[in-house]
Amino acid sequence: MTLKNIKITAEQKAYYEAHYMDLGMESNIYRNSSNTIIKIWKDEVITNSQKENKKEKLVKMHERKLKHMPTIISTYSLDDVCIGYEMSYDEDDIPMLIAPLDKSGKLKVLKKMKEILHYFADEGVIYPDIKDDNILINYRTGNITFCDMDNSKVDSLPRDIYPHYAANFFKRYGQEDIALHSYMLNLYTLTELTDTWQDEAIMRIGTGEYQDMFTEKGKVILKQMKKVTPQYNGEYLIDYIK
Ligand SMILES: Nc1ncnc2c1ncn2[C@@H]1O[C@H](COP(=O)(O)OP(=O)(O)O)[C@@H](O)[C@H]1O
Ligand SMILES: [Mg+2]
Repeated sequence: MTLKNIKITAEQKAYYEAHYMDLGMESNIYRNSSNTIIKIWKDEVITNSQKENKKEKLVKMHERKLKHMPTIISTYSLDDVCIGYEMSYDEDDIPMLIAPLDKSGKLKVLKKMKEILHYFADEGVIYPDIKDDNILINYRTGNITFCDMDNSKVDSLPRDIYPHYAANFFKRYGQEDIALHSYMLNLYTLTELTDTWQDEAIMRIGTGEYQDMFTEKGKVILKQMKKVTPQYNGEYLIDYIK
């Protein structure tokens, strides 16, 4: 089914921007109804050609009926440029950032995320921005939803803005495939299990203080994350917890 496009006026766009319920780095999120939201990209961050690239990616993900992401309802355009899109919203979904999970709850989520990332890769989608506020957990069902899918690489359509550590990984290993999923999920695993931010986790890998948390194979992964090996083999720390 083709993705519907809704043309809006500059006044409507200004209204959505002024009445946001959430703010991302790249966008304003406007609550449109009890079960839909509109994401409008910030003009000062996203160029028109990036917006059109995002639109093409959204169309592909919509056609593939990609799961584990919000359902895309329609794109929005102003003067023939795509400026954002409408998607499903479920108020039982809460960002991992504030989800009250204990260690075993976190481990469960991390394992599910690994499966979902494999599924995305099989569907031609590489998701670079694995972090607390982009991942939602439904407190009724436990289902995981990845937000911010418009910044993925879809087939040969590039991601738009590379998060810092994904960019570092790409510079170092030149891989923008499932290995990137593994690196970013491993970094996320460290931040989740030790309640730290990405910057701090990166520093601590260097000090060796995570060693005791993992089996021998996990230690090899930590070494690769520390940049002491020429290759990155794309395994998951979550499989080697002690
Ligand atoms: N479909 C959604 N349902 C619930 N919350 C959402 C949804 N989409 C986005 N959000 C919330 O809004 C924030 C910003 O959206 P996101 O798509 O990540 O924008 P950005 O590209 O600006 O980072 C997210 O971190 C998430 O917490
Ligand atoms: Mg985001």
